[in-house]
Amino acid sequence: MKNIVKLALSFVGLFIFSVLHAQDAKMNTFINQLMAKMTLEEKLGQLNLPSSGDFVTGAAASSDIAKKIEAGKVGGLFNIKSVAKIKEVQKLAVEKSRLKIPLMFGMDVIHGYETVFPIPLGMSATWDMPLIERSARIAANEASSDGINWTFSPMVDISRDPRWGRISEGNGEDPYLGGQIAKAMIKGYQGNDLSKNNTLLACVKHYALYGAAEAGRDYGTTDMSRVRMFNEYMLPYKAAVDAGVGSVMASFNEIDGLPAHGNKWLLTDVLKKQWGFKGMVVSDYTGINEMIAHGVGDLKTVSALSMNAGLDMDMVGEGFLTTLGASLKEKKVTLARIDEACRKILEAKYKLGLFEDPYRYIDENRAKTEVFSAANRKEARTIAAQSFVLLKNANNTLPLKKSGAIALIGPLADNKENMGGTWSVAANLSKATSLLQAFKETIGDKVAIHYAKGSNLDADAKFEERAGMFGKSLKRDNRTDDQLLNEALDAAAKSDVIVVAAGESAEMSGEASSRSNLDIPGIQKNLIKALLKTGKPVVLVLFTGRPLTLTWENEYVPAILNVWFPGSEGPYAIADVLFGDVNPSGKLSATFPQNVGQVPLFYNHKNTGRPLRGPWFQKFQSNYLDVSNDPLYPFGYGLSYTNFNYSDLVLSSNKAKGNQSVTASVTLTNKGSYEGKEVVQLYIRDVVGSITRPVSELKGFQKISLKPGESTKVSFTITPEDLKFYNYDLKYDWEAGDFDIMIGTNAQTVKKATINWSK
Ligand code: BGC
Repeated sequence: MKNIVKLALSFVGLFIFSVLHAQDAKMNTFINQLMAKMTLEEKLGQLNLPSSGDFVTGAAASSDIAKKIEAGKVGGLFNIKSVAKIKEVQKLAVEKSRLKIPLMFGMDVIHGYETVFPIPLGMSATWDMPLIERSARIAANEASSDGINWTFSPMVDISRDPRWGRISEGNGEDPYLGGQIAKAMIKGYQGNDLSKNNTLLACVKHYALYGAAEAGRDYGTTDMSRVRMFNEYMLPYKAAVDAGVGSVMASFNEIDGLPAHGNKWLLTDVLKKQWGFKGMVVSDYTGINEMIAHGVGDLKTVSALSMNAGLDMDMVGEGFLTTLGASLKEKKVTLARIDEACRKILEAKYKLGLFEDPYRYIDENRAKTEVFSAANRKEARTIAAQSFVLLKNANNTLPLKKSGAIALIGPLADNKENMGGTWSVAANLSKATSLLQAFKETIGDKVAIHYAKGSNLDADAKFEERAGMFGKSLKRDNRTDDQLLNEALDAAAKSDVIVVAAGESAEMSGEASSRSNLDIPGIQKNLIKALLKTGKPVVLVLFTGRPLTLTWENEYVPAILNVWFPGSEGPYAIADVLFGDVNPSGKLSATFPQNVGQVPLFYNHKNTGRPLRGPWFQKFQSNYLDVSNDPLYPFGYGLSYTNFNYSDLVLSSNKAKGNQSVTASVTLTNKGSYEGKEVVQLYIRDVVGSITRPVSELKGFQKISLKPGESTKVSFTITPEDLKFYNYDLKYDWEAGDFDIMIGTNAQTVKKATINWSK
């Protein structure tokens, strides 16, 4: 019987293989025939990706880009919004250019399209892969119905430095979690068939190590050992490639002294040869040209360097378009390499089904019904609530009662434009909702709401301007600090409880929004201090795009709910959680430090030769004079309105050999009085290795829902696959020895058992 099943499966496998093979052969024949007709200029044209910039419907035909499209000098366009404009531009390509090659249309659809989901750092705090996949599916559905077929997402850069503003765009500090999220998002965007009109070609970015910028300053230099690179930072990019991502974006930083855009080892040896990536590599915005400032050469030199390194498409810079012809004549690049790059772009278009129908993604009627639909908004509200992390809840301050009077205070309490957070380029900011509005709609008939702004974002007006770009101003109030504060104290006096909506503005994180200070701005802290003095319960609803230093807040504010930037429907979700309709279950994917001097602080660090054993402080051990090594909130941390109890960890065996598998289990019990979800986390430590190994590494997690009083056994199957790492010679394998197996509620609070695994 077993053999019959095996035989049947191999027939199915063979059938799928031959279908794919036949499809590839068909595509290759088509592209060979097309390329045989193309001039060098037309091939270079395919490598050119300008930003849409100046397009206005009706005026497209006369713009400079339009002329280039007609001349076959454009392969795709990005950040052009509206199905009508895209149709007009596509028409130019397929009606006016010589070979009628359709354009592809890209956009930074990072966390939703018009229906905006939480920022990626918030999405990662859900630890819910089906949910993350669903958000990407909805985003793909909306964007594709509006003419877009390529998204510059997922961004999977590991970051351990919350000073870096773009930590908000990624999945935090952990390679395993980052890899799982990369897979879920790619599946959500690309589906099973890219040629369907509701899918997007995904683009994993920024390859590689962009999140390790020195001092957290954006575009900064990175430099790290290959062992660290492969064991920690590279994993999510590799997971994306394994998941079949269609494109990869190079990063702005240098690696081993060579900018990623010109780094052949990175783009060809590792990505294309070692990992077997078959899709196209696109530059970041003027990333090729920026190698001039890096100090690598002039435009002609850096463009040839990039082409030879394996980069296929040039975003905005036009170095490929304008210099590669001359470099070819001088034999600095080969026609074979230019052909290969052109082929990659044509293949992407072919797989998107654009040669079959250039208007496949252009359907005005679909856009009208799909974009920002009531159903999508409802899902966004549900998803947002799952991303919130309850950081503190002394004396069960939360959930709040739906009765009495509430003071809603703070610079983020009545602002809708900031709810979507950074990189919500397709969002219609005016369609979002403010927290005040959401309170009125959800509990306004039961609770008296007293609103006051309380303070501006920051005392420094110039800072506030820098932190409020792209139409996301918090509308600075010209009253004095005292006037604003007194109004807030009046609102508080009339209320039973105070909800303060404070923290960062949306543009205080994201690209080129690095900070050297991770505190909530002082003026807002003063407001919170004054409100605490009233003696009434204070709940801090924290808006942030990064881990902040909340040591003071953690000590004095009774309840803190971190809501990141929760998206267009986020304010409703905040009301759902504050008033107990939804029990928070988010867990941090990045460590919150006690102070900025501890940065970089991350859970999966090495032990060192002098680890701190026992209490802080100890002379001649690895610690600080002025602060302990502990984080304020560790990786994986997050509270619930209920309490979960973990039993001791049970291993199916404390010895294993070769390819055997072992089960590690705990019994999880909901001891509180609310139904709730808990993310049960599995960590492993390789106690002795041929190179030093981290003190703990996430290897699995499960999100479990339990009713009050309910218990369940949570089991993880561990195989040698979970023990593998890149050794000194960058060989990926596992080594025999002892392993600590840990299961717990966060990276610090775990149950532990040890297993010996022999070869
Ligand atoms: C960013 C990319 C983005 C690109 C296009 C660049 O500045 O680094 O993440 O995809 O712009 O908007």
